[in-house]
Amino acid sequence: AEGDPEAGEKVFRKCKACHMVGEDAKNRVGPALNGVVGGPVASVEDFRYSDVFQEMAAEGAVWTEDELAAFLASPRKYAKGTKMAFAGLRKDEEIANVIAYLATFE
Ligand code: HEM
Repeated sequence: AEGDPEAGEKVFRKCKACHMVGEDAKNRVGPALNGVVGGPVASVEDFRYSDVFQEMAAEGAVWTEDELAAFLASPRKYAKGTKMAFAGLRKDEEIANVIAYLATFE
């Protein structure tokens, strides 16, 4: 589903405790998220990922929109052992919108 990036910017408030995106974004509790949509999993070089994320990266996993949607719906089910301590987004619309927002940052 096509998301709305402006609505997604509001959804991203739920992520800001741990993530930055955009110009000058730095790693915080979670990695900076520039270029994440369509990019390889766990590719921020100076971020220390969990073992499960390192395994996905070694397998060549890519954050397609579908994979991101599944992860954001239930991070700990999608990646058992992930360090992302977030329950997940309940609504498909919120997920599509936040992905559309993230997709605006290369
Ligand atoms: C990883 C998105 C909320 C902490 C990630 C990744 C994405 C993401 C796309 C994978 C990054 C990569 O492969 O480089 C989001 C979004 C959020 C959210 C859209 C809000 C809806 C949070 C929150 C926290 C957090 C609230 C902290 C409590 C982390 C951590 C990782 C991560 C620590 C690394 C996971 C690991 O190594 O297992 N997040 N996140 N995230 N996120 Fe989030």
